[in-house]
Amino acid sequence: MKKTFLLLSTVLALFTNCKNEKVPEQAQEPTKTYVEEPHSFAQPNKAVITHLNLDIEVDFNTERVSGTATYDIKNNNSNTIVLDTKYLEIQSVLADGQPTEFSLGEFNEQLGKPLTITIKEDTKTISVNYNTTNKTEALQWLSPQQTADKNHPFLFTQGQAILTRTWIPIQDSPQVRITYDATVKVPVELMAVMSAENPKEKTKDGVYHFKMKQAISPYLIALAVGDIEYKPVSNRTGVYAEKSMIEAAHYEFSDMENMVAAAENLYGTYDWDQFDVIVLPPSFPFGGMENPRLTFATPTVIAGDKSLTSLIAHELAHSWSGNLVTNATWNDFWLNEGFTVYFEIRIMEALYGKDRANMIALIGRQDLTEEIEALKDTPEATKLKLDLKGQNPDDGMNSIAYDKGYLFLRTLEETVGREKFDAFIKDYFNTHAFSTLTTEDFVEYLNTNLLQKNNITFNVEEWIYQPGVPDNQSKIVSDKFKKVEEAIDQFILRTAVYKPLTENWTTQEWVHFVRNLPEDITTNQLAMLDNAFDFSNASNSHIAMVWFEQAIKHNYHNNNVDKNIDSFLTRVGRRWYVETLFRAFKNANRVDEALVIYKKARPNYHSVTAGTIDKLLGYSPE
Ligand code: BES
Ligand code: ZN
Repeated sequence: MKKTFLLLSTVLALFTNCKNEKVPEQAQEPTKTYVEEPHSFAQPNKAVITHLNLDIEVDFNTERVSGTATYDIKNNNSNTIVLDTKYLEIQSVLADGQPTEFSLGEFNEQLGKPLTITIKEDTKTISVNYNTTNKTEALQWLSPQQTADKNHPFLFTQGQAILTRTWIPIQDSPQVRITYDATVKVPVELMAVMSAENPKEKTKDGVYHFKMKQAISPYLIALAVGDIEYKPVSNRTGVYAEKSMIEAAHYEFSDMENMVAAAENLYGTYDWDQFDVIVLPPSFPFGGMENPRLTFATPTVIAGDKSLTSLIAHELAHSWSGNLVTNATWNDFWLNEGFTVYFEIRIMEALYGKDRANMIALIGRQDLTEEIEALKDTPEATKLKLDLKGQNPDDGMNSIAYDKGYLFLRTLEETVGREKFDAFIKDYFNTHAFSTLTTEDFVEYLNTNLLQKNNITFNVEEWIYQPGVPDNQSKIVSDKFKKVEEAIDQFILRTAVYKPLTENWTTQEWVHFVRNLPEDITTNQLAMLDNAFDFSNASNSHIAMVWFEQAIKHNYHNNNVDKNIDSFLTRVGRRWYVETLFRAFKNANRVDEALVIYKKARPNYHSVTAGTIDKLLGYSPE
């Protein structure tokens, strides 16, 4: 009975379609409703893109990307479709191969310009011929000098949060999911890779073809072009890096396959076939970026001893939380990052044990305390659910989403028990795979499928919609960190260093040690520690960063530390590091010194790092 009805309605639908009449509502596939989006001009409820075919050329001489973006679209009875653009030049637009009218709207500092294209009821594809300009924010063009090998230029993109529109005209909302194909032409000495199926070797003609068969949000479209090579770790994981980095990268990330296996063991199969990491030049503005199939990573994660690889676990975890189940708007950013930190720490626990996991969690807990303190004048910024309307999402995203999001989920886990919690998370990923959720969607899902089901009351609303941290927060303890704190007390009490106390310390213990030195530590005491441990010349980027922070704060100048701070800030563009250090200068009333370094360092920074530091130091270029 049911089958006959279905068949009948399909035939009917086909028939009415042929006659080009409106298909009856019930015969259409269910249309998704998109929620209001503060950071996109697109109106996907009216007409939405479903597939991108990108055909571009990368020109290092003019520092421009140019070509054509062709979209399959689904029109819901609209006579226009709207794409986001920013700092793009639009040459021409076609609808089903024919020239059509288009207009660019007024420029908005954060959002760019809407590109409104006239379409017909039955338009199937639109095609935009365009080029980027020298203002394009997503792209960073690097000179050979800024790379590891120093022979060839390099280019990479950064899409999150709303930068994809600065290199591709697109409906730049995380709610819009598309598959894509791309043809990219680059100079023959270079290889191109994307967040897609990737080449493992250079081609002779510099032309590369890509395919991303799973539907992803536009902020996850990514491209890197450089003199890179590939080395596999397993049959589905591996690394891309410049020649001089490839062995070190391969060693550092040799646990990648184990990480994927551990992740799958926790929350279900890895859906993206391949998990590779590309090590970018040091100006890359993030620790890592979870571009599907190909995580982009900073070289500062390569410590030589695998001690900072929780970053890889983090980006891998985004393959579930973020790339598979995606925040609907940037106000729901904590759904991406909070779950990812939780998942990251679970992967680390599975691979290296509870001690390591708890140390990572406690470092995050201290970050949270510091972030809440830093935001004390704007407590609403410490809510999980944000309100970023009218703001650049990049300015509003802070570590609350990560560390408070984590603490919320850890507290939930401890309340309901790990077994139930894990089953819930696995279902959550399965149920919402390849779709987007708002915070409210999540709360409803949580209430129904975890809390009511198990008869548990929990202050979900307080955690999500109120500032600060609720009283029922999980208390994270680490015996290892207690020992570190005792060692600090000993050193200070005795004004002497007894090295055996630090025997076999891991990077996390050193970071905890340096960060928790007493507020009133003297420069003599700092010198004593530096003498013993040579922190000023630390090769581990995280240890160096927290030590430099102390040196700046306490006006400590021995052991080449000033020179090393200067060269660190000039070489590394990782925003979290750079921002921490420039903020330390600012808090120590040393902005003038900071500006001397910043003016020199700024040309090496990607636009997102430069934007943040401009604001922090009150610097305006030109
Ligand atoms: N998705 C983020 C990076 C990001 C966030 C880019 C917001 C643009 C806007 C990525 O997964 C991330 O969180 N990276 C962290 C590393 C992580 C270990 C906390 C970073 O870059 O430090
Ligand atoms: Zn993340």
